[in-house]
Amino acid sequence: MGSFAIGEREFLLDGEPFRIISGALHYFRVHPDQWADRIRKARQMGLNTIETYVAWNAHAPADGDFDLTGGLDLGRFLDLVAAEGLYAIVRPGPYICAEWANGGLPAWLFRDGAVGIRRDEPRFMAAVTRYYEQLAPVVVARQVDRGGPIILVQVENEYGAYGADKSYLRKLTELTRRIGVTVPLTTVDQPLDDMLDRGSLPGLHKTASFGSRAAERLAALRRHQPTGPLMCSEFWNGWFDSWGGVHHVTPADQCARELGELLECGASVNIYMFHGGTNFGFTNGANDKGTYRPIATSYDYDAPLDEAGDPTAKYWAYREVIGRYAPLSDDVPAAAAPAPAFGVRLGKVLPLWDVLDRLGKGSEHDEPPTMDAAGQSAGLALYRTEIDLAGPGVLHIAEVRDRAQVFLDRQALGTLEREHKDRSLALPAGARGVLELLVEDQGRVDYGPRLGEPKGLIGPVTVNGEPLRRWEIRPLDLVTIPGITEAFAARPPEEVTVLAGPAFAEAEFDLPAPGDLFLDTSAWGKGVVWINGFCLGRYWSRGPQQTLHVPGPVLRPSGNRLVVLELQASGTTQVDFVPAPRLGPLEE
Ligand code: GLA
Repeated sequence: MGSFAIGEREFLLDGEPFRIISGALHYFRVHPDQWADRIRKARQMGLNTIETYVAWNAHAPADGDFDLTGGLDLGRFLDLVAAEGLYAIVRPGPYICAEWANGGLPAWLFRDGAVGIRRDEPRFMAAVTRYYEQLAPVVVARQVDRGGPIILVQVENEYGAYGADKSYLRKLTELTRRIGVTVPLTTVDQPLDDMLDRGSLPGLHKTASFGSRAAERLAALRRHQPTGPLMCSEFWNGWFDSWGGVHHVTPADQCARELGELLECGASVNIYMFHGGTNFGFTNGANDKGTYRPIATSYDYDAPLDEAGDPTAKYWAYREVIGRYAPLSDDVPAAAAPAPAFGVRLGKVLPLWDVLDRLGKGSEHDEPPTMDAAGQSAGLALYRTEIDLAGPGVLHIAEVRDRAQVFLDRQALGTLEREHKDRSLALPAGARGVLELLVEDQGRVDYGPRLGEPKGLIGPVTVNGEPLRRWEIRPLDLVTIPGITEAFAARPPEEVTVLAGPAFAEAEFDLPAPGDLFLDTSAWGKGVVWINGFCLGRYWSRGPQQTLHVPGPVLRPSGNRLVVLELQASGTTQVDFVPAPRLGPLEE
């Protein structure tokens, strides 16, 4: 059995100095049939370790659940890391940030409004204890001292940027040890004095997160930790994208220089990200530092391995730099071939209104509940009430989280966007009928004090100052879209000329050649796409991304079924697959 320890100046693997050259790869952002390929390419770049967060909320969609199957089979992921001869770093959070919904904290944790997160608070600690106990069988047996790949486990995540509750860090550390974690424990913080002070405890090995000026940042870390190996646990080599923003890139030569400086200092590194992957489904997070900004579907991150798993210029530049400090393997990944380009037409349309019953059940309330209060953790919900105005009317909502399309008797009246701080909408004078609001949770905030905030309509909801009462809320199951395939099957093919949302539309296609695809969404408005039941995630005309990545393993040679939910409208019914991703305009 192996051993891994913190030495005077270095990490010690089986008693010998060991420099960690790691890359971040989140199993939950990559199709499980592609894990092995990505891990192999990590080794081929010269990495000796793979780091992953654990996304608690992905494993535990409901209190008590703990799913370790398919794309959530962390044990299999770690076994693949070991099979490639690599080591592993596991960062179970419980808070992970990571541009992931709620920073990984399950939405159900917040439902009674009483939990105190990321501190020593009994309800939070009880839930975290259950989570760690559920995770233990996966992690404990795969530590290096039991013959597995795991050499380090991280406690919390950049805690110094959030809190200062040492009792919480102590209890989380004790819990980590109690479930059987024996490898060294680390913390990560931005290398600022106050954050390094707040974010760790004696006995936890401090590491830093940064993307440049390594010597200076490592010196700051050294001031807080006189002995032990220096490590950058998140060496940022790109950045995430938000809807409505630019696509972030960092030049390969600059990144390679920065990595060279870090390695020249003798430090260990975890490159964040080695391969970013995709926020499939409704898993993306959001930021809100005064303005709400949801994270895009692509988590390409301008990483060395792009969203589709192909090596970029950064990959080769990093490989060259790493080769100066560590042995490289002889084998390298093959150059990527362009994806097949072809087009199909949408064949059938189903107005959302016609299939509501298949997607969820409504419940009645005097006041509009939040989506959370209605038991929903992600996606869209339909709110419904009736209005009867004598004259002009203004609908006012205290806060919309995060986007509400307003309809009167199924006629669109307008959209309220949280990002624009929209709160009011004029109604037609004398309006009388059914008022419906199709509300989208565009992604839960993953950083700062807004973690865990409820979604949906945040009341009161008034017309001309008078609260609207007698509401129905219907959470829509847009993860599995139950019954939609059957509803399409029951419909004869039709001549589809335009796509007026909110509506589902379907196209069937054969695959010209095996491999990944890039779906061009630039002619569509806003919505969600599924292929063969696999939810690719959201698209939005405002970009930056104009394509969605389709992992090859969800496709079959013939009879593929694409379903799109268009919330707005599209003047074309053409569906185009293009040879390469288009992730949007770059920063000036
Ligand atoms: C911090 C967090 C990560 C991630 C990056 C930005 O370092 O620890 O989870 O959010 O920022 O991508």
